Amino acid sequence: MSTKHNIPKIITQARKHNHAELDAVLHCGIPWMMLDLHPPKLAREQTQGWIDQWFHSQTADDTPETEFTKLTHRSFELDSDLSKGWKSRIIFGPAHWCEHWHLGTYEDEYTLSVKHRKDYEFVWLVEEDHPIRTWLNTMFTDDELLNVTAWAMPPGGYLNPHQDSTTNRHGINNLYWAVQWDPGNEFGFYRFGNAPIQEGSVCLINNYSYPHWVVNDSDSDRLVLSIGADLSRIEPDIIRSWNLMHSLGRGNNP
Ligand SMILES: [Fe+2]
Repeated sequence: MSTKHNIPKIITQARKHNHAELDAVLHCGIPWMMLDLHPPKLAREQTQGWIDQWFHSQTADDTPETEFTKLTHRSFELDSDLSKGWKSRIIFGPAHWCEHWHLGTYEDEYTLSVKHRKDYEFVWLVEEDHPIRTWLNTMFTDDELLNVTAWAMPPGGYLNPHQDSTTNRHGINNLYWAVQWDPGNEFGFYRFGNAPIQEGSVCLINNYSYPHWVVNDSDSDRLVLSIGADLSRIEPDIIRSWNLMHSLGRGNNP
């Protein structure tokens, strides 16, 4: 690298090797990062259809019955003093019931997946041409995916402020896709404001390090996906998004 002026060698060396690196970005401490990723635009009838099938109706559900779906009545229902209407459903994960997974531990889903990815058979619980599956498979092969979970919340639903427990320091490693999300939905991070999520947004969130809450103050169901995956596969997208984040600084100062 040539310089106009006589710059100390240590700086020349540092400049040569200085660029945004995935691990540094993921662990820099920010609660979320919006990604320059663009999932297919989905019709409302289609996304509402998935919510109806997975969360509202037992009969319209044509997902193959497994031990897992039998035991969990097809979705987790977490109604409590802390939440209302918050339901989850595994879209890609263990094919069969497994103790660690379904009885819950102090470990988070990501850590469990990493730990047991080879012990258990992991399968898609949606058909091969499902738009969620096909788009995620443009970025990750099945082997590079750890888990995909759908989360639904009806109008008026909420999840009180909490911090998800983990035994690890993950940083922003939870890939989050807002599939159906009308204005009035919020993902709040205490002391950081709301993540600027809109329908079709894809971002990385750190739900382990900071208290957060969600609320659906819209008139429609909300559907989001959380995805655990080998993020090194989309490193260029993450680094591009990181660099885009700073574009406001260019020429914006007086
Ligand atoms: Fe959470």
